[in-house]
Amino acid sequence: MSISRRLEGRSALVTGGASGIGRASARRLAAEGARVAIGDLDEAGAAAVVQEIEAEGGHAIARRVDVSDEAAFRALIDETVEAFGRLDVLHNNAAALGRVAIGGDDEVEHLAVDVWDRTFAINARSVLIGCKHAIPRMLEQGGGSIVNTSSGAAILGGLSGTAYASSKAAVNCLTQYVAAQYGKRGIRCNAILPGLIMTPAVAVGMTSESVEMILDHHMTPEAGRPEDIAAMVAFLASDEARYVTGQLIRVDGGITSHAPTYADIRRAVAAGR
Ligand SMILES: NC(=O)c1ccc[n+]([C@@H]2O[C@H](COP(=O)([O-])OP(=O)(O)OC[C@H]3O[C@@H](n4cnc5c(N)ncnc54)[C@H](O)[C@@H]3O)[C@@H](O)[C@H]2O)c1
Repeated sequence: MSISRRLEGRSALVTGGASGIGRASARRLAAEGARVAIGDLDEAGAAAVVQEIEAEGGHAIARRVDVSDEAAFRALIDETVEAFGRLDVLHNNAAALGRVAIGGDDEVEHLAVDVWDRTFAINARSVLIGCKHAIPRMLEQGGGSIVNTSSGAAILGGLSGTAYASSKAAVNCLTQYVAAQYGKRGIRCNAILPGLIMTPAVAVGMTSESVEMILDHHMTPEAGRPEDIAAMVAFLASDEARYVTGQLIRVDGGITSHAPTYADIRRAVAAGR
């Protein structure tokens, strides 16, 4: 597949770019011509992605940042503008993925309030901080595109992951508010709701049995790859998406699009029942 150079001359900042979806996003944006800043807690991982991008002829920088820390995230935005002269694209992607990163994120009666607060700080407050400090820089130059990584979990009920899903619902809402408040001044803001994407976080946080169980409810033969999300990020970052804003876009193999009985009926039909 040939990649277009539709982001030539643009500058992008990707959070959580050391791994998984963020890594694929940073690489794709760079492959399309953008200069990319990668912010992540994992400094060595981010630096490795810079090397990958440079090996492919792209241009990138990496910085350690905790996106829940306003001063640090703001400094990274300022540094990106200093390094590249502008900021056209912000991909708010870093998040703490439930139990592994934060601790027990269970049923409501067993959910520690502290887990809720820490989950919201990393997953939702960070998106506010990113938007708050990127928007003035984007307005100075006439606009920009903000892409937030949300989750399909935000639009459905579930047995666990209460704080994670709720924090992503906040991201969805914030996405629409940013789009409403700044659209007339040239800033678009959209959220991507991934389905199951095979990333290190999934590999560490789930058993192969639970992955199979979730995949059973996707309409596609396979789970998604980080590159599937990166392709949507690049589209939303580009001028081809000039009329797309305030959207919660599901890139999820159809898992949120079917009747709850889908997998049971599919198996029954296959068995000739
Ligand atoms: N993988 C999936 O199936 C899936 C599904 C739905 C949504 N998502 C969302 O996609 C995004 C990326 O997830 P992934 O699967 O690529 O995970 P990942 O663990 O592979 O990558 C997440 C990255 O974020 C970084 N990070 C975590 N907390 C941070 C902080 N406070 N400051 C800076 N960086 C921080 C980590 O170091 C890591 O490099 C997340 O927002 C996640 O909620 C993933």
